[in-house]
Parts: sequence; C-alpha cells; structure tokens
Amino acid sequence: LILKRSYNTKPQNLIPRSYSHVQPHASYKVAILGAGGGIGQPLSLLIKMSPLVSALNLYDVANVKGVAADLSHCNTPSRVCDFTGASELASCLKDVNVVVIPAGVPRKPGMTRDDLFNINASIVKTLVEAVADNCPGAFIHIISNPVNSTVPITAEVLKRKGVYDPRKLFGVTTLDVVRANTFVAQKKNVRLVDVDIPVVGGHAGITILPLLSKAKPSVDFSDREVEELTARIQNAGTEVVEAKAGAGSATLSMAYAAARFVESSLRALDGDSDVYECSFVQSDLTELPFFASRVKIGKNGVEAVISSELQGLSEYEEKALEALKPELKDSIEKGIAFVQKDT
Ligand code: NAI
Repeated sequence: LILKRSYNTKPQNLIPRSYSHVQPHASYKVAILGAGGGIGQPLSLLIKMSPLVSALNLYDVANVKGVAADLSHCNTPSRVCDFTGASELASCLKDVNVVVIPAGVPRKPGMTRDDLFNINASIVKTLVEAVADNCPGAFIHIISNPVNSTVPITAEVLKRKGVYDPRKLFGVTTLDVVRANTFVAQKKNVRLVDVDIPVVGGHAGITILPLLSKAKPSVDFSDREVEELTARIQNAGTEVVEAKAGAGSATLSMAYAAARFVESSLRALDGDSDVYECSFVQSDLTELPFFASRVKIGKNGVEAVISSELQGLSEYEEKALEALKPELKDSIEKGIAFVQKDT
C-alpha cells in the first residue's frame, strides 16, 4: 500500500509528551540480541526507561549477566532477564513483541559497512532463524551493518521459514534522520525540536539521501549548503569511527536513535495511529525491492509507505537518487545471494 495523502510530520520524540493513550500497565516484551555491546548496553538502559515495556530480555554470547543485574536495579516497570549463548536464545525470544538486533562487529577506521558483511551476515542469519522459530509475529529491528544487505538476508531467512511478513521487518536508519535534523538545525539556526528531514535510500555512503528540499520547517539552502550537508550526513558514521580511532563506531547516538524507533514501534502496537518513522523496508516506491523512506507504522507493522516525499525532488536529489540505485541494488542482491547459496 502506498499512501499518497499528506500526513502529520510532528517530530517523533524519544519520550512522547503525553502517555494519555497508554494502558495502565506496561505490557510489551522487548528482546535485544547483542545487548552486551557498545550499542546494546545504552540501548538497554533507554528501553528500561520505557513505561510501555513489561519485560526486557537481554541476549549476547558473553558479558550480559552483569548488564542485566545492573539494569534490573532501576525502578522502572520492566523486568530484566539475561540470556547467554545459543542454548538460551529460544527462551529469550519466547512471546517477544519487538526484537532488536545490534549483534555483530562494528567498523574500524578505513572500513566501509560492506567490509563487515562476511562476519555480520552469518550472525544475523543465525539469530533470525531463531526469531522465526520462536517469535515469528514480532517486529524485527535490524541495526547490524551492512543494513542494506542484512535486511534482505533477514527477509530471505524468514521466507525460507515460511513466516515472512514484510510489514514487520525494519532496517533501522533512524540515526541518519537524527543526524540530519541535528546538522540542519545547527547550520540554519532553527529550533532543533521543530526540524524534520526525511532520509531515503539506504544506510551506507551515497545510498543515504537526506531530502533537504522537504525540510520542515521550510528552510532555504544554497547549492553549496546542500552539497556540504548531504556529504556530512552521509559521512557522519565515518566521522565517529575516525574520532574513536579503532574503538568502534557510533554507539551512544545509535542507542538513542534505536530507542526512539523502539518507542515508536511500541506506541504503534499500543494503538497510537499517528506514528511515522523513516526505515529501510520492503518497498515498491522504486524499482528496488527494499528502500528507506518514511513509513506509517501501526499495530501490524508498516501500514503505508509514504510516496509523496519522493515527488517534486530538487534536481540535485533526483540525480543523487539515480546515482545511489546501482550500489543499493548490489548490496540487496548480495544479501539475498548469501542466503540462497545455502540451498
Ligand atoms: P560491539 O562490538 O560493541 O557489540 C556487538 C555485540 O554483539 C557484542 O556484545 C558481541 O558479543 C555481540 N555478538 C557478536 N556475535 C553475536 C552473536 N552471534 N549473537 C549475539 N550477540 C553477538 O558493536 P556495536 O558498536 O554495538 O555495533 C553493533 C552493530 O551495529 C555493528 O554491526 C555496527 O556496524 C552496527 N551499527 C549500525 C548503525 C545503524 O545506523 N544501523 C549505527 C552504528 C552501528
């Protein structure tokens, strides 16, 4: 379904201003796979703060017991449980509503996200097989890079298991939106809380396409500003990788962005009918089978892909959109081929 009408672009804040729609008791179960890592730990903390979560299941191959013990002392509603190693994965996933996957290795200076493919593709495939067996109806949020390939890998695994529901599979690109909003607010001196920039395409290099012509509030950019801001948003991950100088990639801003996406998903599950986020999803917006764009999220996942933002693009954006397609297509096909070669 492609939604053509206009829609509310109110910013999706991490903690909504009002919880008036929330039921009296927190009721959703969230699992984080890779919870002991650089993203996993702060993400677990932020999700522990959610009034919508009743159970927080933390899974990793090591070091997750202490994280869970530590978090369990926070006096927020959710019960925290730890699960270590493959033998505990099935129990971790039982009856879970949202599964978040930041498991895998991050970039080091000089690496592209695609350089992570060989390690992370297998990790994601194995974890998703367990998701398919134990909580096939859950929303799945893929953070592990390269997202442009790990999301198609996830779809193929779920198809093979006969449980693929494209509405419930999300590649997390929220950090690109968070960065775009921050950088535009700084550059143009507008109130951060008001800024809303859709980011489309994918989640690596030139496949990340911020649509500055669709900025809310409407802002004028010179051609040079568009080029500089676009390049900064596309390379922001590398900015962090270089600053960390070998100690990993973005973790804190990523945890913030992923927590916002989890909160939006939980609000949608809880009946809020006004939830919009950008995400890398199965899509018929372009000729590519997966594409990041703004989507409307409801109780059953993606209810509509917003097509209006791809209309009336600037000449610069039109060119950038065409330029990103071959790279994104290759990454998607690489992911699909990775699963198909096993049969
Ligand atoms: P990290 O190395 O600090 O943590 C990864 C965690 O995954 C570790 O605790 C590790 O034990 C765990 N792990 C490894 N194999 C596992 C398995 N088979 N099952 C369960 N857990 C396993 O890495 P970090 O910084 O947390 O990054 C994680 C991933 O997120 C990387 O692939 C990184 O590229 C990606 N990332 C994605 C972003 C996005 O915008 N989507 C932004 C930043 C990072």
